[in-house]
Amino acid sequence: MANPVPAELSSTEQPGDPCIMVIFGATGDLTRRLLMPALYNLASDGLLPENFAMVAMARRKNSTESFREMMSASIRQFSTSKEFNPRTWQQLVEKLYYLQDNIDNPAAYVALADIINELDKKYQTGGNILFYLATPPSMFGIIATQLHQAGFNTPGPGWKRIIVEKPFGHDLQSASKLNQELLKFWNEDQIYRIDHYLGKETVQNILAFRFSNRIFEPLWSRNFVDHIQLTVTERVGVGVRGAYYDQSGVLRDMIQNHILQMLCYICMEPPTSFHADAICHEKTKLLDAVRIMNPEDVMNNTIRGQYGSGRKADGSTNPGYRHEPGVNPESVTETFAAMKLFIDNWRWEGVPVYVRSGKSMRKKETTILVQFKRAPDVIFRNTPAMDHMEANQLVFHIQPDEGIELRFQAKRPGPSIALQKVNMRFNYGESFKDSPGTGYETLIYDAMIGDASLFSQTELVETAWRIAQPILDTWATSTSDDFPNYAAGSWGPKSAFDLIANDGRKWLELINCETLNRVPLFQPCRKVFLASLMMMLKPEIHAAGEYIVTRGDTGKEMYFINRGEVETLDENDTVIRKLQDGDFFGEIALLLTQARTASVRAKTDCDLFVLEQSDFKRVLRDFPEFARSVMEVARDRYNITASAEDLFDTDTASYLTAT
Ligand SMILES: NC(=O)c1ccc[n+]([C@@H]2O[C@H](COP(=O)([O-])OP(=O)(O)OC[C@H]3O[C@@H](n4cnc5c(N)ncnc54)[C@H](OP(=O)(O)O)[C@@H]3O)[C@@H](O)[C@H]2O)c1
Repeated sequence: MANPVPAELSSTEQPGDPCIMVIFGATGDLTRRLLMPALYNLASDGLLPENFAMVAMARRKNSTESFREMMSASIRQFSTSKEFNPRTWQQLVEKLYYLQDNIDNPAAYVALADIINELDKKYQTGGNILFYLATPPSMFGIIATQLHQAGFNTPGPGWKRIIVEKPFGHDLQSASKLNQELLKFWNEDQIYRIDHYLGKETVQNILAFRFSNRIFEPLWSRNFVDHIQLTVTERVGVGVRGAYYDQSGVLRDMIQNHILQMLCYICMEPPTSFHADAICHEKTKLLDAVRIMNPEDVMNNTIRGQYGSGRKADGSTNPGYRHEPGVNPESVTETFAAMKLFIDNWRWEGVPVYVRSGKSMRKKETTILVQFKRAPDVIFRNTPAMDHMEANQLVFHIQPDEGIELRFQAKRPGPSIALQKVNMRFNYGESFKDSPGTGYETLIYDAMIGDASLFSQTELVETAWRIAQPILDTWATSTSDDFPNYAAGSWGPKSAFDLIANDGRKWLELINCETLNRVPLFQPCRKVFLASLMMMLKPEIHAAGEYIVTRGDTGKEMYFINRGEVETLDENDTVIRKLQDGDFFGEIALLLTQARTASVRAKTDCDLFVLEQSDFKRVLRDFPEFARSVMEVARDRYNITASAEDLFDTDTASYLTAT
């Protein structure tokens, strides 16, 4: 659905305040890959002040000239803008200066003060300084202290602000210690603790969506919401960050910060304004209400995983986590976690929040699902509609394919009352034509204008750690003998599926065209068919050795193999056939409504899509070309000579014969 925004509504912002930005750790990955492209994007959008200069500090031997050359080389690689403008870059790069020194050397800060004084005069920045701490976290406290001792925080013209990168602490204790170190010399309103997830437009849009659209607010509570899901998965493994990641794990790296922040946006009460204090107050209240788990809760409501070797979606191999560079070969660090949280407040009492995040997963995806309760079925009883009474779902697609989707029920055309799940979707990319940014643009700009609403305050950070700490503690004392327990490139450990299935619920698995295209049967299908199929297919995973289908059972599902290998077995358990990625099985029991003619066992760990019988019938009727392909495969495979009339109900058969 395209909703173009009139150009005159697109931007009313003014450039940020004149300032000097000092980046500590400017030769690192963050600066090269994200901060410089973000500054360039701000300059391109006219939001970087004219009166601006940047001092880059690190230990590596560099001159201002060589640093500028280094940044010029990397901007070509990492710029997110569709059309790179060399003139804009040239103007920016001429304002970069390099200071080579060690962060714990007090003389470095004297040199820094000299450079800043000079640049302040040259660029007329009014004494405003934005310090960006982009070093390893162990240095954040040292820099804040040294800056104070060098006199940077004495009253004078202009503001002084510090942006602190993540991770903010390794646990509750270290986070509190870092807060104390920062607050010893700096005021709360000078400290900007960053969570780059909050720089994403789609995350910020959650607030706009909730608080500027009245129709959803009355539904936004335990009275109408069945449960909430937050999923953040990454395709990539730890790559070159193994040594860092092995000390961290997914709970610290993703859940304690990004996911809890998104949870705040989805579930907090309306703030009294967009002022930073008002937002932070509501977020802290929300996290305060998240139930703290005792060890028994942790055992029952959380699961953790670590990836073993496997294959990525593109077919390339991925080593197991324990074989990644920098990782301890006996590591018990979790690369995946799933958990069930509860928010003990008036609005959300009893509504479970399912959270999961992992590395080396099947796909990269950040999604939030608000699943509403099912409508009462009383008027549909004894009608075909009962087969498809499904709950409404509101899906926030944070990335990729940014947008918002509402899934609801509609009547299928025809004489009887039959229902079908359909959707309405708003796509960011179609409606707003901006180039995708890095997520850091908004955050840097906000820090320049003194808007801290996207940053975390002391209490919020520590409250988030209070939720994570008991989980970390219990995990530290309990074994994880089954590691690795999911294959790289899969949908994660089976226990994550069991966690939610035990409550009679399912993870929302967003199946996109790319995934469906791996199944040859779907390749020639029309887009509209695929869109419909995406909402019908349910993911399922099976461990090697498990029986997926048992001979003699009455089949209610057909299976598509997304990844893995299965064996079909006759009555003596002799292997008749092997099937792998892209194949399907189980169709014959559905086509002929007869008992399963063979058993199917997973030979390796398998990710499958399941198409249920009622959906299958609908697919056959609505998309005869698909029905024909299935029929052909079934005839070949089982030597069936059945006609369309034997295979399908009268309506479908006559349609198939006619077309
Ligand atoms: N990279 C990301 O995507 C990302 C994302 C989110 C958060 N972060 C956070 O951002 C921070 C920086 O990450 P990064 O990936 O850029 O790390 P990095 O590539 O390891 O860079 C670290 C930087 O710190 C400098 N440094 C280290 N010790 C120093 C010392 N004693 N004196 C002066 N400079 C020193 C290094 O400079 P020299 O080697 O030249 O001394 C380098 O510029 C970390 O806190 C990280 O957790 C990074």
